[in-house]
Formats: sequence, C-alpha cells, structure tokens
Amino acid sequence: MDRIVVLPGDGIGPEVTAQAQRVLEVVCAKHDIKIGFEEALIGGASIDAKGSPLTDDVIELCRESRAILLGAVGGPKWDDMPVATRPEKGLLGIRKALGLFANLRPAQVFSALAQASSLRPEVVEGIDMLVVRELTGGIYFGEPRFIDRSGPVRTATNAMVYDENEIARITRVAFEAAGGRRQHVTHVHKANVLEVSQLWMEVVEEVAKNYPNIELAHQLVDSCAMLLVKEPRRFDVIVTGNLFGDILSDQAAMITGSLGMLPSASIAEGGLGLYEPVHGSAPDIAGQDLANPLAAILSGAMMLEHSFSAHDAAGAIRSAVDAVLDAGHRTGDIVLDGENRPTIGCVEMGDRVLEQLECV
Ligand code: IPM
Ligand code: MG
Repeated sequence: MDRIVVLPGDGIGPEVTAQAQRVLEVVCAKHDIKIGFEEALIGGASIDAKGSPLTDDVIELCRESRAILLGAVGGPKWDDMPVATRPEKGLLGIRKALGLFANLRPAQVFSALAQASSLRPEVVEGIDMLVVRELTGGIYFGEPRFIDRSGPVRTATNAMVYDENEIARITRVAFEAAGGRRQHVTHVHKANVLEVSQLWMEVVEEVAKNYPNIELAHQLVDSCAMLLVKEPRRFDVIVTGNLFGDILSDQAAMITGSLGMLPSASIAEGGLGLYEPVHGSAPDIAGQDLANPLAAILSGAMMLEHSFSAHDAAGAIRSAVDAVLDAGHRTGDIVLDGENRPTIGCVEMGDRVLEQLECV
C-alpha cells in the first residue's frame, strides 16, 4: 500500500482536500491502486498546534510517502506575523526540504466555463498551456536576505541566485513536457537587465540542442505578460524562474476564468510529488461549504498521473469533472453571468463527481 500524506492546511484547505480524498479513494479502488491516507499539519494550523508552520516530523512523514496532497495555507489570523514564521513559510519550507524544484501549473479553459473569463470568449477558447516554474531557487531562497534598520535609511536586500544545474534541470522538465504536448517551449526572462536571465538564456539554449523537434522561443517577462492577455492561445509550455513563474502562473490561471479549477504538481528529482490547487485558502468563505473542490480533485488526477503513472485513473477523474460541468453543476465561484441555476456546495460538488465516476 502506498501512503499519501494529506496536508489540509488552513481556510478552505481542509474542505477541498476532503473531497479530493473521497474521489481518490473511489477511483483508486476501481483501478486497483492501493493507497492509504495519513493527515498532518502545515501552515497556520501547525502554528496553532505546534508553534511552527512546518515541523521535522511532518517533513519526515512526507519523505517516506509516495505523494502529498496539500490544501492551502494562510489567513488573516496569522497575517501580522513576521515573514520568517508565517504560514507561507511552511509551504516554502516543504518545497525546499523535499527538493520539489519543478512546479507544473497547467492552465486550460473548460469549455463549459469559457464565458467566465474576463477576456472575450474568442480570445480564451482553446487556451491550453503549462507553466513550468522553478520552485526551490531564485529570489525566494537567495542569500543574503535581510532588512537593515541600523542606519538613518532602512534598506532591504534579497538576492536572485541560480546555478546552471538548477536551470538545466527545470529546462529539461519543460522540454520533456512539451514533447507530449504541442512541441513548443517559451523561455521567459529579463535578460535585457538581469545577469541571472542571461545565464538562463545560455543554459536553456544548450539544453534545447538535445530536443531538436521542440521549438524554442525566448520572451521578455513584461512582453509575455502582455501576450498572455492578448493572444494566450499561442503558448504551449512556458519555462521560467521562481518569481516570474509565481506571477505569470496566476495570470495564466485567471485568464481561463476559473482559478477554482486549476491544479498543480511540484516534483522532486527522485519523483516525489506534492499536489495542490493553485487557489489560496480563501478565508472569507472557509467553513461554510462554499468552496470549489474541483482544483483539489484535479490535483488528485495529476497525482495519479505523475506519482502513480495511472493515466487511465487520472483520465477518469478529468472526464468526470468535465461531465459535472457540462451538466451545469456550479459552485459559487464558477457560476456564469445570466446562468439561472442554484449553486451547490463543496460536499455536493464532491458527490456529483463521485456520481459521474460511478458511471464511467
Ligand atoms: C504560490 C503562492 C506561494 C508562492 C506563496 C503562498 C508563498 O503564491 O504557490 O504561487 O509565492 O510561491
Ligand atoms: Mg503564487
């Protein structure tokens, strides 16, 4: 039996991971995949119970498991805490501790929801891209980092640091992914200003030589932000560093119109994977059975694909979600203007997905 560690976290995290667990249980039983869940604390929940957003025993438990399902971290209760001890530090800490360097964030439009985008439907229809974000390096983790309050003028420093090996391994992930998609990689950078980006250019070019069938484009990050709203369909795989990837993956997600729908995977070199919805902890709707569990459920599909190579089981979840949307079931976040239907809650959305799974 393979252990899956569930880290529900804060806000709507526990509600959405509960539905993802129900779905995984059913689909794994059907596909003869033997799994067992073990729950542990992260983020604000861990601060409250243990005084720290991530503890060594949880890291150890995750290390010895097959995969990790995470909900979300953070909330107003912990907002006044210093950066070094906030719930978010738990998330950054687990990424670093487990070496989860490759963050895969697919952004696609669900045809039933194309109208939910703030962009015109004809711009949005057919968007299908994958943001491959480097997750354990760059300015998020670079040293030195400090605020200097000793002089008359307060000064703060963060460092963007990448070595060529970190760049090469994430680039390989992007090219491998593109091989199974539309064979196109866009490297996003700021090489007109940053030395770090100049090194990325060099290394990405070197790695690209091993993938002669994949087309490579380099795009400045500012113009990429522009093109994402102008012609989002042109992008297949985007590869970039930690900070640019953070920003662009939110933008890519939002133009699909449904942040509540998008899953993600973070993979380590040995293959260990952590799966989480792209959305946050949404404290304003937490505990009211209003959250959309579909991003968490689809994160479960990514888990089956990447950590279990169970492509049929993953496909079954995706088809069930599509069918539920086509049938018109909506949580509050994905209800379309002019759609005159009652919305359903988090648990009922889980029920609907399970119902569909029974009939496929
Ligand atoms: C994300 C989030 C995190 C990040 C925060 C919560 C630390 O925005 O996963 O994109 O910046 O990486
Ligand atoms: Mg982010």
